[in-house]
Amino acid sequence: FLIFNFILHGIKIKGPVSEPLLRMTIQNGRPPSRACSRAGGEPNALRWDLAPDDIRASTEGLMTRVKAAYDDIGSVQMESVSVENTLRALAHAKLDYASSLHVLDFPQFVCPSKEVRAASTEADKKLSEFDVEISMREDVFKRLTALQKKLPENLSPEEKRFLDRLVTLGKRRGLHLSKEIQEEIKRTYKLISELSIEFNKNLNEDNTFLVFSEHELGGLADSFLSGLDKAADGRYKVTLEYPHYHPLMKRCHNPESRRKMETAFHSRCKEVNTAILEELIQLKAKAADLLGYSCHANFVLEINMAENASKVSDFLDTFYETLKPVGIKERKYILALKKRECSMMGLPFDGRINAWDLPYYMNQYFPLDVVTEGLFGIYQELLGLTYTEVERAHVWHEHVALYSARDTETGEEIGQFYLDLHPREGKFGHAACFGLQPGCKGPDGERRLPVAAMVANFTKPRKGCPSLLQHHEVETYFHEFGHVMHELCSKVWAAKFSGTLVETDFVEVPSQMLENWVWEKEPLRRMSRHYKDGSPIPDHLLDKLIASRVANTGLMNLRQVVLGKVDQSLHTSRRADTA
Ligand SMILES: *[C@@H]1O[C@H](CO)[C@@H](O)[C@H](O)[C@H]1NC(C)=O
Ligand SMILES: *[C@@H]1O[C@H](CO)[C@@H](O)[C@H](O)[C@H]1NC(C)=O
Ligand SMILES: [Zn+2]
Repeated sequence: FLIFNFILHGIKIKGPVSEPLLRMTIQNGRPPSRACSRAGGEPNALRWDLAPDDIRASTEGLMTRVKAAYDDIGSVQMESVSVENTLRALAHAKLDYASSLHVLDFPQFVCPSKEVRAASTEADKKLSEFDVEISMREDVFKRLTALQKKLPENLSPEEKRFLDRLVTLGKRRGLHLSKEIQEEIKRTYKLISELSIEFNKNLNEDNTFLVFSEHELGGLADSFLSGLDKAADGRYKVTLEYPHYHPLMKRCHNPESRRKMETAFHSRCKEVNTAILEELIQLKAKAADLLGYSCHANFVLEINMAENASKVSDFLDTFYETLKPVGIKERKYILALKKRECSMMGLPFDGRINAWDLPYYMNQYFPLDVVTEGLFGIYQELLGLTYTEVERAHVWHEHVALYSARDTETGEEIGQFYLDLHPREGKFGHAACFGLQPGCKGPDGERRLPVAAMVANFTKPRKGCPSLLQHHEVETYFHEFGHVMHELCSKVWAAKFSGTLVETDFVEVPSQMLENWVWEKEPLRRMSRHYKDGSPIPDHLLDKLIASRVANTGLMNLRQVVLGKVDQSLHTSRRADTA
């Protein structure tokens, strides 16, 4: 099972089952001794100064408390099952869990202390196993199905969705089936998990390299070449790692070298992983079959917006038809470009801004503080919010800032967020949004304050030079901040549905929508200033940038359609000829 408690842009988290087994939580829980100085009623009581022993003790305490709550629900007499003693009790236990969990599993990504990070990783492992254990509680599942059969009235739409979802999730784990079938499902998933790990391990350990002469690597920078190892005959060794693959594919003039690279890259571990893949397809089909689904794709899609494989297939076909003319136009353009480039080869200066100049020039216009100011301005205006920095906030590192977001009209505090934007020793190296406390209703009917963190790896300011962002980093900033706002603005009853805990194929929608601001002139002007003379981005650069967005959009999306179709084709069959 895959545990998925943060949103990571553009990076796949490996796991055999794509259904996020969302973590549940605890409240009323006593924080460990050192955290007691803060009153329990405080809206953001998250502590980031737990010692490894505190983390271990809290993890044990948390699991004991949640287990006790599940035991209570699981021992309710079948005939006296009620909304109060099952559904609401479960919602409260899950809220309890969700509010206490992240002080334990988040420090592994950001804490300056190595010992604390290790304790947090350890806690994460234990809690992940615990998640699986409580998700398999047949006693609790039986009481939920009994409640569902009673068709309780007076359920709010969200409570009804919660009940239906819990029963569906239980069935997806086979809890309604016989012990023998459950065991077989477990065995099958264990195999799937082992094979998936092996598949990835093979890719990680692959050390294939290609050998090229200097001439064959024409177009690549000297600094790239000087970083390469050499073979005995003096030629260059190029590996299939991204830092070699991408520059070669983007800059090498020699089409034959690019062809060799592309072929080798997409043939990594071909023999051994093809066998694994084909076995995985059969195992997934078997698990789906045991659970009563016609294929693995339908199993996965059931709890997505897309619902089933035939809808996905219709969507891909329609999308393909729409994109095809765009792709054909782009291909013509690229062919013309190639022709022109060939005839232009050898000219020392072409007198224009090329695509490969753009990142370099654009890079001088996005100082981090200016971007943050512009981004805050746009989000505040758009969402009717006011952000204020919390003075002397309790944080995990001196470079982290905490902000409070209020409804501008009513003054009500709707949530808090941390910004932790620069690299540090041992810190998570990508950009991501972490939900830290859910924004749902507590047992007292009051809304809990949602808290989220945006973590990034933007270049640190240096003496005389501010932190300058590339345009794609500005886009990432908007994207992840969109997830932060999604966490903060949601108003729900159940922790299970708070913030970004939505259908997997919806979770990126708000962020992707909000990303559009970085492709419009007005917001770009608001967010930029040349770091030396303060001048705005010149119009011709903005035009180029905006034009570059749609370049290749047809071909790139057609590629996504192909990937989607391959995936669907593999997972709607019992076995597949992957070739
Ligand atoms: C797929 O879902 C759509 C929409 O809910 C439904 O109309 C259709 O019958 C479903 N198809 C199959 C094969 O289940
Ligand atoms: C994060 O930033 C550091 C320092 O700039 C860099 O060395 C590292 O490669 C970055 N991490 C990732 C995953 O890009
Ligand atoms: Zn995202």
